[in-house]
Amino acid sequence: MENILSGIKPTGQLTLGNYIGALKNFAKFQDENKVFVFIADLHALTLPIDPEVLNQNTKDIVAFYLACGLDPNKASIFLQSHVHEHSELGTILGNYAYMGEMSRMTQFKDKTSKLNEKKIGLGLFTYPVLMAADILLYDAKKVPVGEDQKQHVELTRDLALRFNHRYKKDIFVIPEPVIPTNGARIMSLSDPTKKMSKSDPKGDIFLKDDPKVARKKIMSAVTDLDCKVKFDKENKPGISNLLTIYCSLKDISIQEAEEEFKDANYGTFKKAVADVVCSTLENIQAKYNEYINSNYMDEVLKKGAEEASSIAKVTLQRVKDAVGLLKTR
Ligand code: TRP
Repeated sequence: MENILSGIKPTGQLTLGNYIGALKNFAKFQDENKVFVFIADLHALTLPIDPEVLNQNTKDIVAFYLACGLDPNKASIFLQSHVHEHSELGTILGNYAYMGEMSRMTQFKDKTSKLNEKKIGLGLFTYPVLMAADILLYDAKKVPVGEDQKQHVELTRDLALRFNHRYKKDIFVIPEPVIPTNGARIMSLSDPTKKMSKSDPKGDIFLKDDPKVARKKIMSAVTDLDCKVKFDKENKPGISNLLTIYCSLKDISIQEAEEEFKDANYGTFKKAVADVVCSTLENIQAKYNEYINSNYMDEVLKKGAEEASSIAKVTLQRVKDAVGLLKTR
């Protein structure tokens, strides 16, 4: 039994890549571990976002968490902004993070390369400190994240070690990033050398997509001229991506799928991928529709925030004691 924590930032529509790389795994972990899954709504403010959009995205993720099988009786599901300890620990931890290491974060460099330097928000710079607080509050040993967040978890490790060393106590548990091997990177259907992300409607399958639309996207996915259903990321990125999707959703190995389609042409193979994607979407969407805008969602979030806070406050007190902040009497 280990504490596992992960979160999603509500800045866009969830994709099939999010489902395969993240949501599906969270539900698997919850039977044998203490799982904390939250929505990083404070992180969503680090770049300009429309309030209505933030609101809707946040609700959507809660509904999709539930639709994908997360059970509030096993896992704690909550919003970052509902548990004030995140902000408090973030404020304290900011004093132990160095300007230099923050400026070297790849995500910060990527996101700011397109911005006017005078208009870079401080929150974007300190983003990894808040993320470290998210993780450290729950004594999380494992942190499932996509490849792009690995560096932030490594920074969290550095901060935790630095802090423990400075106060000569094991105040924080040292976390580890967990990158799922199969399906960690679902690529765009229109350009399989790029990650499936929120910015390319043709190459992405959104969890909210009409299954008919999703089918069309798969049938017109970019492949190659070789006509063999074989996994070869380098030379056949499109087919390899479709194989990854197929195998993740069917819970089978790549070899099993290669065997299944050894005599098939690309049309037949794509149809099989489209079938499993569509039935997955139909299933998830039916449950999503039940949950979205229901009182049940509010109850889940209330219970989740209470559970989270009861753990977070113990860690925060440990930190306050260590640095010498006085207790209230
Ligand atoms: N930064 C993550 C992302 O962009 C979201 C996130 C915030 C997170 N805090 C976290 C993920 C803590 C794992 C653990 O996707």
